[in-house]
Amino acid sequence: MAVERTLSIIKPDAVAKNVVGQIIARFENAGLQVVAAKMVHLSQEQAEGFYAEHKERPFFGDLVAFMTSGPVVVQVLEGENAILTNRDLMGATNPKEAAEGTIRRDFAESIDANAVHGSDSAASAEREVAYFFNADEICPRG
Ligand code: TYD
Ligand code: MG
Repeated sequence: MAVERTLSIIKPDAVAKNVVGQIIARFENAGLQVVAAKMVHLSQEQAEGFYAEHKERPFFGDLVAFMTSGPVVVQVLEGENAILTNRDLMGATNPKEAAEGTIRRDFAESIDANAVHGSDSAASAEREVAYFFNADEICPRG
């Protein structure tokens, strides 16, 4: 397995619930390191650009409205197999279908307000990390 980087977003519902620390602890306990982080209230343009792959989907307008409804915490996670490790920790997109012990099962209420985003492939991780962070804002600890 290779050391990878992946983009994680703690979404407005989880920030509003005050569970940012509990979610980050799950990443750390799984061996991932936070190598970049910031809190940001996304603009409409930022949210639309980030989710551009979904722009033809029926839920796109609601997704953008939700993602701009409050601040989010955007992080770069680094570690062995980070992309898949994070997706496993997150659980299924629909919290009602997410496995026990996953972030979405434990912290999310609905498919549209589902607590976290995580890159789904090496290509999306590369794009999404660059979407939010310049190289000099990423601080690997080695
Ligand atoms: P998607 O990339 O399919 O899920 P994931 O976040 O697990 O990678 O969809 C992006 C987001 O769009 C998803 O987290 C929540 C929202 N969404 C809906 O609101 N309704 C839906 O039916 C789907 C598939 C997604
Ligand atoms: Mg996705």
